[in-house]
Amino acid sequence: MKVPFIDILRYEKNFCETVTEKTAALLKNGHFVGGPVIAEFETSLKSYTHTHFALGCANGTDAIQVALRAAGIEKNDRVLIPDMTFWATFEAVVNVGAVPYTVDVSKETLHLTVNAVKEAIEKFNPKAAILVHLYGWACPETLEIRKLCQEKGVILIEDCAQAIGVKINNESLLAGAFAASTSFYPAKVLGASGDAGAVFTTSSEVAQIAHKLLNHGRTSHYEHGLIGWNSRLGAYEANFLVESLKHLDARLESRRKVCSQYRERIKHPQLKFIGPAANVWENGYLSVALMTPESRPAFIEYLKKHEVGYGTVYPGAMSEQPGATGHLGGKISHGNSDWIAKSVINLPCFAYMSQAEVDFVIETVNQYK
Ligand SMILES: Cc1ncc(COP(=O)(O)O)c(C=O)c1O
Repeated sequence: MKVPFIDILRYEKNFCETVTEKTAALLKNGHFVGGPVIAEFETSLKSYTHTHFALGCANGTDAIQVALRAAGIEKNDRVLIPDMTFWATFEAVVNVGAVPYTVDVSKETLHLTVNAVKEAIEKFNPKAAILVHLYGWACPETLEIRKLCQEKGVILIEDCAQAIGVKINNESLLAGAFAASTSFYPAKVLGASGDAGAVFTTSSEVAQIAHKLLNHGRTSHYEHGLIGWNSRLGAYEANFLVESLKHLDARLESRRKVCSQYRERIKHPQLKFIGPAANVWENGYLSVALMTPESRPAFIEYLKKHEVGYGTVYPGAMSEQPGATGHLGGKISHGNSDWIAKSVINLPCFAYMSQAEVDFVIETVNQYK
């Protein structure tokens, strides 16, 4: 058997037919930009995530940029980000003219801690911070970090590119975020058929600015109140996403089952599985295990030989990326992000993975010597 790391083509019965029918309708009505399907998607997304405002945009990187700018981040403002994230978090800060400061994450939870954010606020006096929720979990100290930022007057943006559907204390993670972003890149749990993203906020003021920013700063068709850009969500993507959202709960459930089976049934002394905190409801985006940096290369070779797909999300800390040179304002590092980058291993996980595939992965890993 061969098990891919990810297979994004396991659709529900009739999913493709419904999307095709609706695409044909778009071809006839010509609502390619804006139009009712965008409003339909934003309404369903808002309701699914229990957020006050949900605005579709072109991709998850733009969504961070829109959130930063709408929340008032300007040129040369200092923004804290975790050293372990996807490069887009770093890029977005630089693209809005602000300066990223990286903060090391915990070796245990792989996320920021309230103490690390506190130390970084004292050291760097930032205007904002981006809390990134990785692997389909929520940062375990989300509520404490939100409270700290509020007390210290630091604007908190949450990068939820991997966290649609995640709950904390039984409530939607996104609903509690002042301003947040997500990505609908096809490999995400709610993937589009191309690039797409969304911005969320509890603030009507931030929502109004975000709405303008992602559509050329428009206040009316030919009146421009702001320098924005074109980051509109396309109708084809919205159409695909409307249908996908209807199946999201089932997709997340099947992913969660894969992650929990790995955690429960893989018993290997070299692999330490990590999961979300007890009060966090994961969306099953990724399975995460750690092994020592010395033992990982041989295990990867073994997985390749047995045709089991794998990932190493992410294989490098942000502050160590060549592209960070000349942009990084400062960093707090204890070497944890770098160690995680060399230690992390992700096993196959995607919606509607068959039980035979899951069993094969588990048996193959358990037999590793
Ligand atoms: C944590 C994180 N932030 C931002 C992004 C950027 O999203 P996009 O690729 O849609 O621009 C991603 C997507 O890979 C991500 O995982």
